Amino acid sequence: MVQEFDKVGVVGLGTMGAGIAEVFARAGFNVVGVEIDQAALDRGRGHVDKSLSRAVSKGKLTEEERAAIDARLTFSTSREELADADFVVEAVPERMDIKRDVFGDLDRICAPGTILATNTSSLSVTEIAALTDRPEKVVGLHFFNPAPVMKLAEVITTVSTSAETTDIVTEVAKRIGKTPVAVGDRGGFVANALLVPYINDAIRLYERRIATREEIDESVKKAAGLPMGPLTLADMIGLDVCLAVMDVLWDEFRDPRYVASPLLRRMVAAGHLGRKAGQGFYTGK
Ligand code: CAA
Repeated sequence: MVQEFDKVGVVGLGTMGAGIAEVFARAGFNVVGVEIDQAALDRGRGHVDKSLSRAVSKGKLTEEERAAIDARLTFSTSREELADADFVVEAVPERMDIKRDVFGDLDRICAPGTILATNTSSLSVTEIAALTDRPEKVVGLHFFNPAPVMKLAEVITTVSTSAETTDIVTEVAKRIGKTPVAVGDRGGFVANALLVPYINDAIRLYERRIATREEIDESVKKAAGLPMGPLTLADMIGLDVCLAVMDVLWDEFRDPRYVASPLLRRMVAAGHLGRKAGQGFYTGK
């Protein structure tokens, strides 16, 4: 079934969307990356170019392979380009009004059989599916940052998702080299429900001056053998994304464990969103 997939659309080419477009193109799919305007499109294309160049310079890709990947990637500012897409992944900012706009358009533009996936990390996939007239063909396909590297893909199904859609998306996830894990639609799904409160706890230690940011990060790295400490990871994920996940967990469960750290909230309000903003717990991109 998946073999018949020729054209994959990726809507939103920020950190995650650009990585997702790269992953599909590397796996042999023709990909159309769509952004809202030319400036955003250029930025998104820049992310993909940089990542592919890094792979070439590290000897992970040959120049020929890179050229073939480039040939499979096209970019557009028009969602209408997705009219003949077989599968679309949405990776736009985490706001329901933006998702409504995107899914309304996709539902109108794409053929009735096209499966629509959302990379949301904090919103309800059920609510997103309900924005369309094809809720049985809407799933969460949740990637982890950096998308070209991290192996997990959560496949989030709702009460409306059909078994056929779930099977196809699980197969797609395998085809792009990810390990799919089937999870239900609940705040944080599985990985973020565990990971983001841990990051939030680290921010609480930092705001209470229990230790420096470096000491906190080094402690966890060395104690648990993780590649990154929690504050470095927060900067990489984006503090706005971390806060959105905390707020969803709080809204859904009203458990004090899920109250966002005041410092996290203030940093987001200040625009200190982490690596993408050049300013977070650490400075620099
Ligand atoms: N894009 C593409 N490839 C990248 C990359 C990027 N942004 N960053 C690193 N890589 C690749 C490198 O090219 C390298 O590839 P090879 O092994 O093939 O040479 C590999 O990843 C390792 O990179 P580096 O040697 O440069 O650096 P590193 O060893 O420090 O690894 C890391 C970097 C992969 C990011 C590692 O630190 C790591 O795994 N960190 C934890 C990341 C994590 O936990 N992510 C999940 C966040 S939660 C989330 O995203 C979900 C959500 O909804 C919030």
